[in-house]
Amino acid sequence: MSAWGSAPTAVAFVPFTTVGGRRGRSWAGTSVGPVRQIHPDFRDEVEPLEVYPRDPRPRVGTRPWVMLNMVTSLDGATAAGPDRVSGALGGAGDRRVFRAVRASCDWIVVAAGTARAEGYRRPRVDAEVARVRAEAGRTPVPRLAVVTARGELDADAEMFATPPPGEEPVVVVAGRDADQDRLAALAGRAEVVMSQVPRPDPAEIVEVCARRGGDVVLVEGGPGFNGPFVAADLLDELCWSVAAVMVAGSSARLAHGPDVDFPRAFRLDRLLVDDESNLFGRWVRRR
Ligand SMILES: NC(=O)c1ccc[n+]([C@@H]2O[C@H](COP(=O)([O-])OP(=O)(O)OC[C@H]3O[C@@H](n4cnc5c(N)ncnc54)[C@H](OP(=O)(O)O)[C@@H]3O)[C@@H](O)[C@H]2O)c1
Repeated sequence: MSAWGSAPTAVAFVPFTTVGGRRGRSWAGTSVGPVRQIHPDFRDEVEPLEVYPRDPRPRVGTRPWVMLNMVTSLDGATAAGPDRVSGALGGAGDRRVFRAVRASCDWIVVAAGTARAEGYRRPRVDAEVARVRAEAGRTPVPRLAVVTARGELDADAEMFATPPPGEEPVVVVAGRDADQDRLAALAGRAEVVMSQVPRPDPAEIVEVCARRGGDVVLVEGGPGFNGPFVAADLLDELCWSVAAVMVAGSSARLAHGPDVDFPRAFRLDRLLVDDESNLFGRWVRRR
């Protein structure tokens, strides 16, 4: 059995459950114990679903608020395990926060690399999330946009199946030179929007979402896609889960790409911790 196949003592292995993105098998614990708040003040127990959707996320000028949600290990890995996915890092606490963050947005935007690696599915909501979203005036389910330069997406993927009644199709934002045959295969399964440039630009992607309605865009990676958002200074909020494990390996940092001209400063707005030492921070861009 490989090192990944034998769980360390006291850290159980969560059975694989795909939730339409990251967070399946996990090394970051299975406890469903309390989540405590340790900043800005101490609270013995908070329910992420009751706090994240209530955070203020005003439009920035005319554009929607843009959030990024990522999980890393203590040593900064964004993917781990034999499948090299983020699910190996996200434990039970992270799944609660992930659900709460998704409950707070109108759009989920994911790069094609992550959609392929993690087998992205259409977002789904449970009754509690639907209630919270309705209270905030959001549609029952956030819309999904997948961004590709080359157009290399599997038209038979679950996310392109006929949407349930009342839900819109997935939007595919494709690079100017994307494979036309691939895009033709998506006809009737997705709304395809062609970019003006070979690699869709973050501002353009946010605009594609904004034109279709909604005030909050959630970016879910991956790291190579996040870098251009940092460079464009388009991130207003970072929700960062730090799983209390070290995994070494060679996965990318949370965001990578060309150096930026000046650092983007953020303010710690909230820090939560679960009873397995996993941290859940919310940082807001200082503007
Ligand atoms: N820890 C976490 O929270 C987390 C979250 C997400 C992903 N991940 C992990 O990250 C890995 C995937 O990340 P990745 O960096 O390799 O790929 P990625 O950022 O998910 O995707 C890169 C792809 O996005 C498309 N793209 C379109 N416009 C782009 C632009 N302006 N800039 C960059 N890419 C653009 C291109 O697709 P085409 O190739 O189709 O042209 C490109 O190849 C996986 O291992 C995944 O499990 C971890």
